[in-house]
Parts: sequence; structure tokens; C-alpha cells
Amino acid sequence: MAPSYHNANSPYGSGDPYYNESSGYITPMPAKKRTSNWIKFGIPVAICVIVAAVVGGVVGSRNHNSSSSSVSGAAGGSSSGDQAAASASSAASVKKAIGIFPTGTDSLYLLPLYPSTTNTAAFTTPTFSTDSALLWPDDPFQPSNPSPTNVRPDRPRLIAPTYKWQVLSQRIATDPYLSEWNDTIFGNATAWSNLEPVQYFMDGSSGILDNCRYVKERVKAWSYAYRMTNDTKWVNRTWTELQYVAGPDFGPNNSTKWNPSHFLDTAEMTAAFGIAYDWLYDVLTADQKSTILQNMLTYGLSQGVHAYQNVISGDFSGWWANNITGNWNCVCNNGMTMGALAILGDDTSGTAEQILGYSIPNALTGCALAITDDGSWTETANYWYFGTTGHAEMASSLMTAAGSDFGLFTVNPSINLTGFYHMHTSGFGSLFNYGDHGPNKYSSTANSMFLYGDHYQQPQYMLFQRDQHDAPDPWSMFWYDITASGAFWDGLSLDRFFDNQLDQWAAFRSSWTDENALYVAIKAGQLQNHQTHNDLDLGDFVIDALGTRWAGELGSGDYNSIGYFSSDDQESQRWLYYRKRTEGQNTILVNELNQNVNAEPKIVNSGSTGEAQGSSTVYQVPDQSTAFWVADLTSGYNDTTSFLRGIRTLNKRQQVLLQDDITTSQPIMWRMHTNATVTIAANGTTATLQIGDNTMQVQILSPSSGATFATMDPVRFPDDPPLPAGAVDSPNPGVTVLTISLSPGTYSLQVLFNPMWEGMSASDFVTPPSVPLDQWTLTSHN
Ligand SMILES: *[C@@H]1O[C@H](CO)[C@@H](O)[C@H](O)[C@H]1NC(C)=O
Ligand SMILES: *[C@@H]1O[C@H](CO)[C@@H](O)[C@H](O)[C@H]1NC(C)=O
Ligand SMILES: *[C@@H]1O[C@H](CO)[C@@H](O)[C@H](O)[C@H]1NC(C)=O
Ligand SMILES: *[C@@H]1O[C@H](CO)[C@@H](O)[C@H](O)[C@H]1NC(C)=O
Ligand SMILES: *[C@@H]1O[C@H](CO)[C@@H](O)[C@H](O)[C@H]1NC(C)=O
Ligand SMILES: *[C@@H]1O[C@H](CO)[C@@H](O)[C@H](O)[C@H]1NC(C)=O
Ligand SMILES: *[C@@H]1O[C@H](CO)[C@@H](O)[C@H](O)[C@H]1NC(C)=O
Ligand SMILES: *[C@@H]1O[C@H](CO)[C@@H](O)[C@H](O)[C@H]1NC(C)=O
Ligand SMILES: *[C@@H]1O[C@H](CO)[C@@H](O)[C@H](O)[C@H]1NC(C)=O
Ligand SMILES: *[C@@H]1O[C@H](CO)[C@@H](O)[C@H](O)[C@H]1NC(C)=O
Ligand SMILES: *[C@@H]1O[C@H](CO)[C@@H](O)[C@H](O)[C@H]1NC(C)=O
Repeated sequence: MAPSYHNANSPYGSGDPYYNESSGYITPMPAKKRTSNWIKFGIPVAICVIVAAVVGGVVGSRNHNSSSSSVSGAAGGSSSGDQAAASASSAASVKKAIGIFPTGTDSLYLLPLYPSTTNTAAFTTPTFSTDSALLWPDDPFQPSNPSPTNVRPDRPRLIAPTYKWQVLSQRIATDPYLSEWNDTIFGNATAWSNLEPVQYFMDGSSGILDNCRYVKERVKAWSYAYRMTNDTKWVNRTWTELQYVAGPDFGPNNSTKWNPSHFLDTAEMTAAFGIAYDWLYDVLTADQKSTILQNMLTYGLSQGVHAYQNVISGDFSGWWANNITGNWNCVCNNGMTMGALAILGDDTSGTAEQILGYSIPNALTGCALAITDDGSWTETANYWYFGTTGHAEMASSLMTAAGSDFGLFTVNPSINLTGFYHMHTSGFGSLFNYGDHGPNKYSSTANSMFLYGDHYQQPQYMLFQRDQHDAPDPWSMFWYDITASGAFWDGLSLDRFFDNQLDQWAAFRSSWTDENALYVAIKAGQLQNHQTHNDLDLGDFVIDALGTRWAGELGSGDYNSIGYFSSDDQESQRWLYYRKRTEGQNTILVNELNQNVNAEPKIVNSGSTGEAQGSSTVYQVPDQSTAFWVADLTSGYNDTTSFLRGIRTLNKRQQVLLQDDITTSQPIMWRMHTNATVTIAANGTTATLQIGDNTMQVQILSPSSGATFATMDPVRFPDDPPLPAGAVDSPNPGVTVLTISLSPGTYSLQVLFNPMWEGMSASDFVTPPSVPLDQWTLTSHN
């Protein structure tokens, strides 16, 4: 059976914009080729515009402020507040003059490409302005004592109330990002309207989740297009879709139509129906509304009641409601909540009220706690997308429909940090994508960054996300705060340490805006309690440089494989699959065995010289700049008296040193997975990695003799315990494992990574001194 990300049987066929005929891979949203003002006018013209706009902006905002009493947000009313407001407003004017910051999108990794310029007029400190002309009007619905069942009198209720639609066109005219997203949503809505309704496709253990998310994505875009145009063709197309996916040709013609045994599917389809019901409420006929409502009750919400009521009775459909701190809890509670809020008042069965009585408290003890106290998502960097999309949609829907988040924003005081998690997992060669990657994202985006940026007053979250390929989305039109201005990178630290015991990871970089910069990320953390989405990967790392990933991850195995999700116990069948085994990670293997699942690794030492990028996109790393991280991984291994793994940047973040100080009575193997072509020098201590035109040299510095590189295929060892009968491993085409094998003993194994940066000669690289890991400091390698 096909893994969910390699769907050779795409139900959408060649009409599917995600489907690649030749590879069969369903790719992420294709790269967008923008023509920004940077390209249209060239940098010199843009600079003139900026200077004029700065002056105009300051004058304009002073006048404006003196005639306005509406001040909210970051800056106060003092004279320094006035100045802050003025400079924020001028920055907003500059932003408008420039248009969109990036000049395009990297086609391989879909990264925004920032202009390389030291002109910093627009790239100011992230801030929200208090310009009342740019703020949303006040919400007329202000219940003094909010209750989930006391909903606003007008429609829509969900995420986008009427008072916001009324000013949206005007805001689109004011803001280049909104303008582009609006165009993109219309383009997508048009493309999708020319396709057939989504066809039922049961994809093994991933159920019909792709179907349901695809319907949700379409319904959002079509309902948006209707409200922006009043053209009923969008309503009619939505109606066709909804009838089809609740009709006899879509799946079993009974209550299991939306596949409640894999409840994500039911939840996402219910959310889609709720959005259509609510956003198109004024134009749907009474019959249409009644049909939609009945379908939501039969196939969605009554299935939800059943799931909640049978949470712990062994009924599988509700397992996610049993205090599950992961994406399932967010997606399922959100779908039920959006559906219930949409039909509240029209549903005479009491089901909507019943659902809200379950879903809100359930999300407060599950979904909202899936973020650890350092902001990390408990599953993986990819699952953050699914979980935060569910959490954000649910919080936003409750805020708009009933006037309160009912604790979803506050029950966990660390949700405000999760945008930093996302930003620091974002490398230049894609995410630090440890563990499972999840199914196709479709309607799951990183646009929770907008809602969180607004709610928690973190302008850098807004500024980061607005440049990303997945920003165009109806939600963004309402969550993005157009008073946000400046550059997300201005003042953003290059390094961050995430020390919660569950995750324990760190990321270092040499720039936020140069796609060719260095990015290093490494992890330890516990090997259980990640909703069985993790790998046995203590010490696992990635390295990006020169616009590509040199040390990388293999990703998910086949979700339909036997035992893949059986458990995270030591003897779980999951840990038989190469991509999940310790040998499939970039770490040390002892005696060719998996790490111990009950390991309690410790961060023993870490540091950063603490640089933050300035406003320029051209960042010069200072001479002594470095960051390092050392973890004690001994508890992950048997027969191992001590094992510290450390990583650090050297030489102005141009080189990386990875060091393992280990004592074990079993054979050791150092392993790293790479897409590069690997050539090992005759002396065995230097490996040359080649990807495209780029080169990285990897050298063994210690031990000074007896340690040499070899390469292996990314497959299980012949004497590994066998896969379950009939199971096969996912192939890893193009991947080579670079290895170093050592006999039992005590070592300080030091490996140096030298990306061959343009213009750097051999003598520009440093050879660091040998320093035991427990003595590493910020200056130990100067
Ligand atoms: C939104 O985009 C559509 C399609 O490009 C366009 O026709 C419409 O004018 C845009 N709306 C606004 C308010 O600019
Ligand atoms: C949406 O439209 C944009 C702009 O035309 C395009 O690049 C993108 O591929 C479309 N997305 C989908 C999912 O079709
Ligand atoms: C759509 O109809 C509403 C209600 O009649 C009206 O307020 C709005 O201006 C119309 N929008 C457009 C784009 O015609
Ligand atoms: C949408 O359907 C309604 C009802 O059948 C019809 O009156 C209307 O003309 C349709 N709209 C378009 C644009 O075809
Ligand atoms: C499926 O259900 C619908 C409505 O419940 C009914 O009208 C239709 O005849 C059913 N189709 C089949 C094939 O049983
Ligand atoms: C629902 O339909 C499926 C597929 O046709 C069938 O296997 C199942 O037994 C039906 N369930 C009920 C309760 O009728
Ligand atoms: C979830 O945990 C809370 C607090 O420990 C507990 O009160 C509640 O009963 C649990 N919920 C479920 C569905 O088990
Ligand atoms: C996040 O929220 C907590 C609790 O309200 C607060 O103490 C902390 O300062 C906030 N952190 C940031 C970075 O805003
Ligand atoms: C190889 O490249 C692909 C595509 O960019 C990437 O997803 C994967 O993580 C890379 N693998 C390694 C081991 O770097
Ligand atoms: C390590 O040793 C313990 C105790 O003998 C054993 O239970 C465990 O399975 C071993 N771990 C591995 C990965 O073999
Ligand atoms: C090993 O060989 C490479 C390539 O010839 C060379 O650059 C490197 O200095 C040699 N290393 C040692 C330790 O001799």
C-alpha cells in the first residue's frame, strides 16, 4: 500500500495541482514566481520610494495620531509612545511602498528569497503600529459573560464576522500582502472549480483524510470568493461539492461515510461543512441549509458524540479525546467545534450544544497542552502544522462566534513561544524534519503564526509567515494584522535552545535571510510520549549550507506498514523499520542496537555568543561568534559507561565541529545520511561530499589514527531482527550513509565539517584544538 505522502493512486489524477505525473509524488505547494517591486523597479528606484515614504509616513502619522483617540497595541500614549507610533507608521508606509519583501521563492525548498541589500529603511524593528486607520473596527459583539452557546447574532460566526468583511476590500487596497493573497485565493478557487468533486479514496491507515482536507481547502476558497463578489457561481460550486461528498457515490452510504474510525477525516469534513453553512448562510436556500445540517449531524457531529462518550471504553474512534497532547486532539476537537458553532440555534436535536460541552474542556486538557514550556510541539516539526492549525481555528472560531477563547490561549502559558519553535525549526534546506512528517498538508498551514502573532503581540511571527509560500489562505485575510511592520529578522537571535526534557534541541545559524547560510540543528529528548511519531534519534542532527542540506533526515516510513504505529515500547514493531531505527539517524550506534526508549538524556552544557541579526539582510558574523550544545546520551545505550555528544560552530559560523566523547564495551559506529555523492580520500580521514556544484569536506580530527570513513547503503543490517512478515522498508534513493566504525573503547571522536564557501581558500579554514566536551565554553576553540 502506498504511504500517504507517495500517493501513486491520487484520486485527483492529473487535474490535481499537487500531483506530479512523472514521480507520483504529491508535492507541497509549487514554488511561486513573483514579480515584486524589487524586480519591477530595481533596487535603486525602490530606495528613492522608500525615502519619500519615510518622510511622508512620519508626517502623515503625526497628523493622524493627533486626531485619533483610538490607541491600542504595543505603544502607549507618552511622547516616546508617539515616536514609536510614528516610526511604526512610517515603517508601514515604507512597507507599502516596497510591496512584498522577498523577490521570489526558492523552487526546491519553497523559501522566500530576500533581496541582498544593506538599505535598511524598511527593515526596521518588528512592531505593530497604532494607526487607527489600519486597525480592524471594534467588534460590535461584546458579550459581558461569554458562553459557548451564546453566539453572535449575525453571520458569519466563524473566524470572519461581517464587520471584518465590510472593510476587507479597503484593507486589500492598503496592503500588498493581502492583495497578493486575495489574488492567489481567487486563482486557486477558479482552478478548483474546474475540477470534478473530490472522489472517495480510502488510503489505508490514512483513511480519507486527504479527501476531507481537500474539500475543506476548496470550500474555504469558494466561500471566500462568494463573499468577495456576491457571485452565486461560487455558492453553486460549493453546493455541488457538498452534495457529492455526502452522496451515494462517496464512500459507504451510511453513517460511516466520513470514516469516523479515523476521526481526523470526520472532523475535517465537518469543519468544511460548517464553514460553508456559516459563510454562505445568507444565500443558501432553506432546503440546502437543512440538507447540509442533516449531513453534518449524521456523518459528523453524532459520530463525535459517540466518540466523546466512548473515549476510554475501547471504542477506537474516540481515542484522541483521552487527554492526547498532539495534533489529533486539536484537529478533532476543532472540527467538532466549528461544525457545532455553525449550526447552533438551527439544530433542534441538541447535538451542537452537546458537542461544545465536550470539545472545549477536551481541547483544554489535550490540544492546548501539546506545546511544551519552551514552545516545542510534542510530536514533530511537521506535525506542528496540523496541531496549530486545529488549535488556531478552534480558538479563533470561539472568539468570533462566542466572544471568548474559553481558555484555549491561556491554559498553557507557553503557547506564545511556539512561533519561535517554528521559526527555529525552519532551516535553509527545509525543516529540522526529525520523526514522522505526516500526511499531505493541504488545508494545514503555518498561518496560525498570524493568529498567535496578533493574540500574543509577537510581530515577528506575522512578519516571518507573511513571506511564506503557504500564507495565501482565507484565514490569513482575517488573522494577519496589517499594522505589523519591519523585518522579522531584525533583532532575532541566531541561536535558540529548547530545553524541555521531552524535546531538548537546539538550532544555530549564520543568517536568517541568506538561503545559502549555515543552519545546524540537533536533538536529544525523550523517546516516548510523542504520539508515536518520533524516531530513536538521540543526538540526531542536520546541517544546511550553500543552499542545500548535507546531513539530512529520511522522514516517515510507510504509515500503512505492519506495526508502524503499534507503540513506542522497546519491542515495538515500529522500531524495526530502518527510518525509525537508530541506524537510520545521524547519530552514534553502539553494537548495532536501537537506543533505549526510556533514556533520560541531559543537556550538560550549551552556550551562544548571543548575536541577533540586524535590520540588513546582509549579515556579517562577528569574529568570536559561536554557539554550542552538549548532551549526555549515556542512558540511551547499554554497555556504555559514558557518552557525551556536542556540536559547535567555528570560524564565524563557517565550520561545524561534531564531537563524541564515549566509553563503551561494544563496537561503535558513527553515522550520517546525505544526498551527496561521497568520495573518500586514500588516507580515509577526509570525505568530500558533492551536491550539484557545491562541496563539503568532512574530516576526522580525532582519533588521530585508526578511524576512517566508509560508506554504506541506507538499509537495515543483515543481522537486525526481521521485519514483520510481509513488511518492507521504504527505499531511500540517492542517500548514502557516511560511517566511521570503531572497536570498543574510549574515544573523543571529532568530525569537522567544512562547507566550501565561495571565495574561501584552504588557509581560511581553521583546525580546532581538541577539548573534552565537558570543558567546552564559548571561547574554548578560539
Ligand atoms: C481579489 O482578487 C480578485 C481576483 O484577482 C480581483 O478580481 C479582486 O478585485 C480582488 N479584490 C480586491 C478587493 O482587490
Ligand atoms: C494557488 O495559486 C498559486 C498562484 O497561482 C499557485 O502558485 C498555487 O500552486 C496554487 N495552489 C494550489 C494548491 O493549487
Ligand atoms: C454583496 O452584497 C452585500 C449585501 O447586499 C453588499 O453589502 C456588498 O457590498 C456586496 N458586495 C459586492 C462585492 O458586490
Ligand atoms: C446558481 O444556482 C441558482 C439556483 O439554481 C441559479 O439561480 C443561479 O443562476 C446559479 N448561479 C450561477 C452563476 O449559475
Ligand atoms: C443513500 O442514501 C440516500 C439518503 O440517505 C438515499 O436517498 C439513497 O437512495 C441511498 N443510496 C443507496 C445506493 O443506497
Ligand atoms: C456501512 O457501510 C459499510 C460499507 O458498505 C458496511 O461495511 C457497514 O456494515 C455499514 N454499516 C452499517 C452500520 O450499516
Ligand atoms: C484528562 O485529564 C484530566 C486531568 O488529569 C482529567 O480530569 C480528565 O478526566 C481526563 N480526561 C479524560 C477524557 O480522560
Ligand atoms: C509568554 O506568556 C507568558 C505567560 O503569560 C509570559 O510570562 C511570557 O513573558 C510570554 N513570553 C513572551 C516571549 O512573550
Ligand atoms: C534528500 O533530499 C530530499 C529532497 O530535498 C530531502 O527531503 C531529504 O531530507 C534529503 N535527505 C537527506 C538524507 O539529506
Ligand atoms: C538494554 O538492556 C536492558 C536490560 O538488559 C534491556 O532490557 C534492553 O532491551 C536493552 N536495550 C536494547 C536496545 O537492547
Ligand atoms: C587525507 O587526504 C586528503 C586528500 O588528499 C588531504 O586533504 C588530507 O590532508 C589528508 N589527511 C591527513 C590527516 O593526512
